[in-house]
Amino acid sequence: MNARSRSILSVTAAGACVFALAACGSDNNSSTSTSSASTPAAADTSAASGGKSGKIALLLPESKTARYESQDRPNFEKKLKSLCPDCTIIYSNADQDASKQQSQADAAITNGAKVLVLDPVDSASAASIVTKAKTQNIPVISYDRLITGAPVDYYISFDNVKVGELQGTALSDKLSADGSPKGPIVKINGAPTDNNAKLFKQGSNAVFSQKGVTIAKQYDTPDWSPDKAQSEMEQAITAVGKDKIQGVYAANDGTAGGAIAAMKSAGLDPQKIPTTGQDAELAAIQRILAGEQYMTVYKAIKPEAEAAAQLAYDLLNGKTPDSTTVNGKTDNGSGQVPSVLLQPVAVTKDNVKGTIVKDGFWTAAQLCTSQYKAACTAAGIS
Ligand code: BGC
Repeated sequence: MNARSRSILSVTAAGACVFALAACGSDNNSSTSTSSASTPAAADTSAASGGKSGKIALLLPESKTARYESQDRPNFEKKLKSLCPDCTIIYSNADQDASKQQSQADAAITNGAKVLVLDPVDSASAASIVTKAKTQNIPVISYDRLITGAPVDYYISFDNVKVGELQGTALSDKLSADGSPKGPIVKINGAPTDNNAKLFKQGSNAVFSQKGVTIAKQYDTPDWSPDKAQSEMEQAITAVGKDKIQGVYAANDGTAGGAIAAMKSAGLDPQKIPTTGQDAELAAIQRILAGEQYMTVYKAIKPEAEAAAQLAYDLLNGKTPDSTTVNGKTDNGSGQVPSVLLQPVAVTKDNVKGTIVKDGFWTAAQLCTSQYKAACTAAGIS
């Protein structure tokens, strides 16, 4: 499509969406935000940086995990608005439902999205969204989770095998320090439909087998649901025995929260059973300061979301993205996808201050509410 026909299409689509603004944003958990709804004719003319504006869809997978609504979405929107005040963001959250995500992507395309930024509920079935977008020359950025088996344009994420290795190493070292280097542990993995969950598993299992840590029970947790993680942990406690479990691998902070709740209701002290996590959620950092969760993996979501916004804006304008940002390639079964891969960091009580607080990911005021004041002081956070 040439620039002119793209421009005409985009103006038409912008008008349609503004005309039907209620419909664009009426989906449950789906919204369309626009900074220039009152001036549709101006859309697609010029943006802050002199490029074109248009509609960009951000399609996120779920809302039980805190990061998406508290970090990914606001950081993406802020960055895109700074690059392109006249751009329209079509936002949807699929609530862990792959077919809902399919409909949300269809709606975004119908509403005139020119780029899709897609964090898939199901890494494999999302290929059909890509195939459809491709028939209309709409580029797709695979955001945080890899879409497999379809020709996506870019992939932005963290080194996810490394995430698993950091979790596995932290837990193995802690078990050794506590005098039970072989465990056994309970392992609560993420959703089997998420390619990331496979990579976290790969990285952590490699460390556990190398260090000889025994896994007494392991579960894949459908939808990454914290409630399901809680019942998995309850089952594990019954099956393995209350006094036997030495540690818990939980793939993220949501599932860690579920596992810790199960321990507490079974009368186990989570302070004595180190538990891993991921995402540096506010509640998890507070649990770490209080000693209830041993570690998390901090992934700086702001740079991830900002890189996605920059890339989406570049693709909207037909520009080749900056080669210093694109730092790798990832095989997704359909080809080598140019990738932006960021580095994760392991966080325990000892380095909350030098990582999370230093970066402003959470401020001391957010972390150190009355219940956590003493724990914050002990960790040097004020
Ligand atoms: C993300 C994690 C998140 C999990 C559950 C993964 O794909 O990388 O950060 O905790 O999904 O939503």
